[in-house]
Amino acid sequence: MKRIAIITGATGGIGSRFAEAVNLMDDIDEIWSIGRNTEKLKKLKESCDKTVSIETDLANDGIDVISSKLSDETPDIRMLINNAGVAYMGEFEKMGTKKVEQFCFLNCSVPSQLISACLPYMHDGARILNISSASSFQPNPYLSMYSASKVYLKNLSRALSVELKERKITVTCVCPGWVDTEMLKKDVEGKEVKYPGMISADLVVKKALKDSLKGKDMSVPGFFANYFRFYSKIMPDRLIMKQWVRGIRKYI
Ligand SMILES: NC(=O)c1ccc[n+]([C@@H]2O[C@H](COP(=O)([O-])OP(=O)(O)OC[C@H]3O[C@@H](n4cnc5c(N)ncnc54)[C@H](OP(=O)(O)O)[C@@H]3O)[C@@H](O)[C@H]2O)c1
Repeated sequence: MKRIAIITGATGGIGSRFAEAVNLMDDIDEIWSIGRNTEKLKKLKESCDKTVSIETDLANDGIDVISSKLSDETPDIRMLINNAGVAYMGEFEKMGTKKVEQFCFLNCSVPSQLISACLPYMHDGARILNISSASSFQPNPYLSMYSASKVYLKNLSRALSVELKERKITVTCVCPGWVDTEMLKKDVEGKEVKYPGMISADLVVKKALKDSLKGKDMSVPGFFANYFRFYSKIMPDRLIMKQWVRGIRKYI
């Protein structure tokens, strides 16, 4: 049986690094790399020979496309990396109902549905990695939907890591702080945006794969995210939100 890894958002900053690292693993025959960008998928195939490009919009019929490929090929899924995600920084009120719906769908529903679709093809030792964020440690005004969606993913991950223990499937929730990728705007109206403690995607991936191999349910890379995790446990949310708003107000 073919042993595969599935990576959503494999064309992005963190996803492509995951693909490169997984490409070196002896126990993986194929990497089903999901993304919408044809050019980026082509480029990924050049650096990762195990890539099987699946060009699809997860916000549309992506889950159906993957599900039907799974039922046609019945592979052994060794790894599922739920990495695709979107961010929106600004006033919630300006998002509008359509964007709110799409946001919830991509950041919450897609990873949940994909886990459900993949579980029948996962066996002892299979691994699920869900890319959440340090935004899941506390509520973030003006990043409200993002932070709420990452809490969803964190709680889903941790609960499933307990439920799936009997089946010897590990679930690791990855919570980085700022990561240097295209997701982060470099400037807003000519003002350079500063991201304290920003780390590289490589660091996130290295730690995440190591932690998942150890069966850890959480992977928090870098000093900044770990400090934030601790801080959010000892300080009241109201105070943290106040400090957060003070820091980002100039960019809104
Ligand atoms: N960057 C950070 O500071 C940071 C921090 C903490 C957590 N994270 C999380 O890490 C994950 C990866 O983020 P990143 O920084 O690598 O972002 P990125 O470079 O913007 O990549 C996002 C990826 O998601 C894919 N994607 C978005 N919408 C999609 C859709 N509708 N259908 C299919 N694919 C879609 C994109 O693929 P296409 O463009 O090909 O469609 C792209 O590969 C996200 O879940 C993010 O929330 C990021």
